[in-house]
Amino acid sequence: MSIINVKGTHDIIGKESELFHYVESLMRLISKQYAFSEVRPPVLEHSELFVRGVGESSDVVRKEMYTFLDKGERSLTLRPEFTAGIMRLIVQNKLYATNDLPLKYFYLGPVFRYERPQLGRYRQFNQFGVECVGGNSYFYDVETISLAYDILKSLKLNNVVIKINTLGDEESRNNYRLALKEFFKEHIIDMCEDCKQRYELNPLRILDCKVPEDQEIVKNAPKMSDYLTNESKERFQRVLSALEQLEIPYIVDDGLVRGLDYYSETVFEFHYTSQNGNNYGAIGAGGHYSHLVKEVGGPDIPGIGFSFGVERIVSVLKDDNILNEEKIDDRVDFYVMPIGEENLNYAYEIARKIRHLDFSVDICLEKAKVPAMFKRAEKKNVRFAIIIGENEVKERKIIIKNLASQQQIELSEDKIFSDIYDIYDQCFSCDGDCENCR
Ligand code: HAM
Repeated sequence: MSIINVKGTHDIIGKESELFHYVESLMRLISKQYAFSEVRPPVLEHSELFVRGVGESSDVVRKEMYTFLDKGERSLTLRPEFTAGIMRLIVQNKLYATNDLPLKYFYLGPVFRYERPQLGRYRQFNQFGVECVGGNSYFYDVETISLAYDILKSLKLNNVVIKINTLGDEESRNNYRLALKEFFKEHIIDMCEDCKQRYELNPLRILDCKVPEDQEIVKNAPKMSDYLTNESKERFQRVLSALEQLEIPYIVDDGLVRGLDYYSETVFEFHYTSQNGNNYGAIGAGGHYSHLVKEVGGPDIPGIGFSFGVERIVSVLKDDNILNEEKIDDRVDFYVMPIGEENLNYAYEIARKIRHLDFSVDICLEKAKVPAMFKRAEKKNVRFAIIIGENEVKERKIIIKNLASQQQIELSEDKIFSDIYDIYDQCFSCDGDCENCR
């Protein structure tokens, strides 16, 4: 029996890989415009980091981590998210010890969660995100949301819905937790096993329960907004009015609590439903955290960040046909066709020369008849064929054929360097009647 991929993982092949590159490079570019720089933490971390960072009451830590003992009996975990690892990296390298706070980092890579695979839900998927750590102004929340929004806009995801809420400061959340405990006291007996545990560990998590009967109960639960301290209320209002001023649309969703334990104050999610009705849930999400750096052993400085699910973004771009074909072009520019093995050396020399001029060049290294080579060129979506027979080798020249217009020209080898860019541009954009094509 052949071996297949692990459940919940997926291969990214060919054109789809180009699409990932396109999305990821835009994300990098815009993050750099916001003066964020890249960090690359390892995939493997000590399990303790996520238990302390992401939190014992989160589903991610309780049920979804790929945790194992290594040969030295250490408990290690494949990262289920980046944020805790970035805090570890900041603390371990004492990056916070600078006058130049906040630290502004972006990151990209695979994360692992043992979830039930379904539409847009994988066990290995890629996140792109940013963390802005050590700044004290509420405006970093605005800046972070603005960055995420600009990325989504530049990807032409115009129908994105930003849901936003505040979880308040510690005092607000403590008061709210007490209110929730009081409210759920009489209901918890009828609720799911998960909620029973959540009740003990962190009743806020109950608000996230997906069991329909439990959701009915949750509908009548007290609202966070009634337990906010004045400071938190004011902070949230400032964030909202700055977003308004920047014309970044949002919907306040007072049921939004996020699934990870480290959040405080502003939290947000980016939702997108494709035109065909596919609902991928959140294509990205994030929020502010007041004490996460301290939690992993550093000073008590706050941070804010978000992560996009790259697979989900690629899926909605495909669903809604919002692809900039030109930018995710995986076409091959030239296909070199040696007629006969004896011409292969010269043909290869030519291919290499043109590759060095920054074009993508493929070459037929198999014995093949000319029509078969043209068929291959067509299949590879090649722009130009370069035909090299005995005559071409003898006279050190090449024949270039524009496969769209079917026009061909001859070019001596010593002119390749000077003329090929012009030929490439002109022949591609004309209808076959430019000087080079005639
Ligand atoms: P998260 O909401 O757990 O937040 O994940 C962020 C994004 O990852 C989600 O909005 C979704 O697009 C994607 N995602 C999550 N699970 C899956 C899955 N199983 N398959 C495919 N995509 C998925 C975090 O991870 C936080 N670290 C975000 C953050 C950064 N908060 C502050 N800084």
